Amino acid sequence: MLKIARKYVFVLLSVLCVMGIGGCGMQVDLSEIEDKAEETETEEAENHAITTPTDDNMIVVGVSQVGSESVWRSAHTDSIQNVFTKEEGYFMIFQNARQKQENQIKAIRSFISQQVDYIVISPITENGWDTVLQEAKDAGIPVILTDRKVNVEDKSLYTAWVGSNFVEEGQKAGRWLEQYLVEQNKQDEQINIVVLSGTEGSTAEMGRSAGFSYISQTHENWVVLESVNAEYTTAKGKEEMSKLLKKYNDIDVVVSQNDDMTFGALEAINEAGMTTGVNGDITMISFDGVKAALELVEQGIINVDVECNPQQGKYIARIIRRLRRGAPVERAFYVPEMVFTQENVSEYLGDRVY
Ligand code: AHR
Repeated sequence: MLKIARKYVFVLLSVLCVMGIGGCGMQVDLSEIEDKAEETETEEAENHAITTPTDDNMIVVGVSQVGSESVWRSAHTDSIQNVFTKEEGYFMIFQNARQKQENQIKAIRSFISQQVDYIVISPITENGWDTVLQEAKDAGIPVILTDRKVNVEDKSLYTAWVGSNFVEEGQKAGRWLEQYLVEQNKQDEQINIVVLSGTEGSTAEMGRSAGFSYISQTHENWVVLESVNAEYTTAKGKEEMSKLLKKYNDIDVVVSQNDDMTFGALEAINEAGMTTGVNGDITMISFDGVKAALELVEQGIINVDVECNPQQGKYIARIIRRLRRGAPVERAFYVPEMVFTQENVSEYLGDRVY
């Protein structure tokens, strides 16, 4: 049904950073990577283009994004903004919640009052969505989740979800370590592990932690010394890794639940006079697979990077197209993902745009 005389403020985040970071060497200088991540956050917060829909036939989509904490997140935003374009008949209202669930809830309420056609959310954590999603349902607006999930009693409060298999990602990391230790003939040695985890209560953090634990529990000689929350950011990754290095002098493996935390952890490890990666003092396991990290995999500084695929926009758009023609949609769609090591990474680096 056409909605007449609707007026929307269209907040378009128009400048996104394509991260292309040069080589760093074994004693890596990661300040450039960190600077770029910070620049991205500032640009996303400040570059707004304001307009109103020009055509009542446009499909109006309200998008609530978690924030801009990581390179991955910027690529995810980019992928959504690339599909909901005017040329494709969309009018998108984009809200960056800056890591606050209350901002996401406010955004959803504002989408409801503006009578958008669809709401797309990447929820920061899983709990606390029942009331606002019920309001969206009562208003007859389909909700599509992307990236992370929600924990709601009534599953009909959202129509579909598109994202990563985070549990599988954690298991892939554990299985890679199993095989690596065998290759190094260290399968029977005590292996001391520290975990830098992401936002507590997020699907990504819970899934990766559970998946890795599933494997680590089967090895009595794997000792998880500590798991600390480093909030998916480079700054926190460095801060928490520095503390861990002061506390433990026998860390064998770092499991860092995203590349941004890994960049910070590498900086801390280098400052402590240690090396990482292939033939290094500490084995580095990372998640996401952004270009700057894959370059470090290629150089042997990160041992393995388990991919988390941010290119989810096209799958969300496909769901909307199906909903519009009354076709059934999958409740859960897992995006394809792989594992990168020094053996295979060069093949994929050339095509990496984020
Ligand atoms: O939910 C996906 C995670 O969130 C990515 O691993 C991380 O980089 C992001 O911020």
